[in-house]
Amino acid sequence: MWTGFPLFPEQASSIAQGVDNLYFYLVGVTLFFSILIFLCILVFAIKYRRRSESEIPPQIRSDWRLETTWIVIPLILTLVMFGWGTALYFQTFRTPKGALEIYVVGKQWMWKIQHSNGRREINELHVPIGRDVKLVLASEDVIHSFYLPVFRVKKDAVPGRYATMWFKPTKTGEYHLFCAEYCGTKHSGMVGRLVVMEPKAFETWLSGGVPGEPLQEAGQKLFSRLGCNTCHLPEEAGRCPSLEGRFGREVLLQTGEKVVFDEAYARESILNPRAKVVAGYRTLMPTFQGLVSEEGVIQLIAYIRSLSQTESIRNPAVRESERMSSGEASITRQREQ
Ligand code: CUA
Repeated sequence: MWTGFPLFPEQASSIAQGVDNLYFYLVGVTLFFSILIFLCILVFAIKYRRRSESEIPPQIRSDWRLETTWIVIPLILTLVMFGWGTALYFQTFRTPKGALEIYVVGKQWMWKIQHSNGRREINELHVPIGRDVKLVLASEDVIHSFYLPVFRVKKDAVPGRYATMWFKPTKTGEYHLFCAEYCGTKHSGMVGRLVVMEPKAFETWLSGGVPGEPLQEAGQKLFSRLGCNTCHLPEEAGRCPSLEGRFGREVLLQTGEKVVFDEAYARESILNPRAKVVAGYRTLMPTFQGLVSEEGVIQLIAYIRSLSQTESIRNPAVRESERMSSGEASITRQREQ
């Protein structure tokens, strides 16, 4: 808008325009009524001022038409805010299938970011333009908030749970990323760089740098180091449920409830195995709280998710849907194109 004096960050994601439009509507309504009310106060104060010490104002009866008008108009205006806001919220809340997954861990005072091929970055986030990107957020200590102003998205990273957020970048360039939750002395230093790249440049960037161990391979090693593989055997042969082909589906619990086997469920079951036990199994599993770091949990989850991908190769009927739900598969697919 005004390049010399930017009031707003650039719009660099698919929802940025929509968020701004709602914001302008809110500002517009607020401005209009603020000005109207102030003008009325000013005009009426002059027009109906007391003219003599003995003046007594006449009795005024209210008019139902006037009452109805000032009930109905604000009602409509606020219901528009509600409906519009809700629609936008759902749009930002529902992650599209097939989004590229990136893990973000907040800690005092930095953002640690890891891509599924193992490439890591600190206080920097590289993403490709035109792709749906899903971030899985965790915190190692206190509440942080991952804020990408040009995408108009912000989400709290809360210790003890996962949060996800998504966006689709529409403009290449370098932008800011922030921590938007006061998290201690160096909160203000918890800033970084967001880089939106062309898909080819992103692929090159992703495969460059210090070659990291792919998340799922690191997870597989951790899985056997922690002894998970002694109980979670394939094909339901073990004392614990098989993890093959389970990720992304519903599981039936002892309580009769059903939950989706997602990142949050996997994480909870690693750290607090008694919370949601699968139907037909006993609560044998010990907690891994304190034995495995947030990063370790992320690696384990990447490995568990990969078990569902190999399953899908054996069963072609679910292959496409499984691929769609896996960020990594999408990268491969893009490479193939
Ligand atoms: Cu992290 Cu503020």
